[in-house]
Amino acid sequence: MIISAPTDFREAAQRCLPRFLYDYIDAGAFDELTYARNTQDFKEIELRQRVLKGVEPDDLSINMFGRDWALPLALSPVGLSGMYAKRGEAQVARAANKAGIPYAMSTVSICSIEEVSQGLTQPIWFQLYVLRDRGFMKHVLDQAKANGVTTLVFTVDLPVTGIRYKDKRSGLTGPWRKTRRFAQALTRPHWALNVGLMGRPHTLGNISKYQGQPTGLLDYKEWLSENFDPTITWTDLEWIRDYWDGPLILKGILDPSDVPDALTLGADGIIVSNHGGRQLDGAVSSIRALPAIVEAVDGRAKVLMDGGIRSGLDLVKALCLGADAAMIGRSYIYALATRGEAGITELIDMYIREMRVVMTLIGAETISDLDRAKLAKVDF
Ligand SMILES: Cc1cc2nc3c(=O)[nH]c(=O)nc-3n(C[C@H](O)[C@H](O)[C@H](O)COP(=O)(O)O)c2cc1C
Repeated sequence: MIISAPTDFREAAQRCLPRFLYDYIDAGAFDELTYARNTQDFKEIELRQRVLKGVEPDDLSINMFGRDWALPLALSPVGLSGMYAKRGEAQVARAANKAGIPYAMSTVSICSIEEVSQGLTQPIWFQLYVLRDRGFMKHVLDQAKANGVTTLVFTVDLPVTGIRYKDKRSGLTGPWRKTRRFAQALTRPHWALNVGLMGRPHTLGNISKYQGQPTGLLDYKEWLSENFDPTITWTDLEWIRDYWDGPLILKGILDPSDVPDALTLGADGIIVSNHGGRQLDGAVSSIRALPAIVEAVDGRAKVLMDGGIRSGLDLVKALCLGADAAMIGRSYIYALATRGEAGITELIDMYIREMRVVMTLIGAETISDLDRAKLAKVDF
C-alpha cells in the first residue's frame, strides 16, 4: 500500500495485524464517544491564514526537562508494542532516538527497559502505573535508573481499566479466545511469522523479571486488574516524588481542579490526557481540556497533551492552544505495525513537513511564535 499521508498508516496497519490486535489499538471505552471527540475536536479549530510574512520555519526544536529536543513531539506509552512489530518497543526507541524526540516506554511492554535502552544515545522516558504492589514499583524504578532513565511518566488515570467492548468482540478476551486469536493470526501470515514466531518471547519484559516467571499476553490483563488500586489517593503518591529525583510527569490530568494537587506533589510536567478515549467515555476531549489546564498551571510546570493527534497540522493546533509539546499514541503505533522503525521515521518526517508548511502559512517562524493569536476560531 502506498503511504501518502500520516493517516494512511491506520488502514495499512489493519491489513498487517490480526483483528484482535488491531481492534485492541483501535478501541475506545464504552460507546467510544470520547475516542471520537479526541480527533473530531481538532477539526473544529480554524487557523488564521497570513500572507507575505517572510517566514521559513527551519528550527522546530524545544528545550524541555533540561534537554534539547528536535521537535515538540513525544511518543506516548503504548502497552504491548512488541505484539505489533517484532521487538516493537526497541524499534520505537530507535526511531525516537534517531529523530531526537522522547519515547515514553510503557510499564506493560514486551521488551524490558534493558533491551530497549541498548545502543541509544539519549535515554528513554519510562511510564509507570499506580499499582498495589509497591515492591514492583520500586523494582521497576530501580531498573529504569540503572538504564539511564531520568524522566518518569506517571499515569494516574487508570485506577481501574476502562470497559472496552471491542476486546471481547474481537477475541482478545471472552469465549474461545485462544482459538479465535489463532485463526485470526493465520489470516496475517507475515505477522504470524515475524512477530508471532520470530518476535518471541512475548512475555512482559519488566514484569516477568520481577515475578521470576514468564508473564505472557494472557496473564497481562489479569495481572493489571489485580494490581490497579482504586483506593489510592494523592498522599499515597508522595513517596514517588521522594524516590524519583529526575523530572516527574503526571499523565492523565483532564480537569483543572486536579492541577493544584499535581503541583503540590511536585510534578515537573502534566500530560493532559484521557488515555486516548480508553477510560471514561463521555469525558471531554484532550484538546478541549487543554486551555483550562494551561491556565491553571500558569507556567509552574510543562504542559503536554495527547489524544487525537494524527498529523503535523494537529500538532501545530495543540501548540497554539498552549501545549509545550504534544504526544502521539495510535498514530505511531499504526506506522510501527506497518513498517517498523522505518515506518515511524517516515511518519515523523511527514509531521515535520506538515508543521513547516502550516507554520509558513500562518506566519510562524519558530515554535515560540505559536499561540492563540494564530487561531481564527475555537469554541473552547
Ligand atoms: C493500544 C494502547 C495501549 C496503551 N497503553 C498505555 C500504557 O501502557 N500506559 C499509558 O500510560 N497509556 C497507554 N495508552 C494511552 C496512550 O499513552 C495515549 O494516552 C493515547 O494513545 C493518546 O491518544 P491517541 O492514540 O489518540 O494519540 C495506550 C493507548 C493505546 C491505544
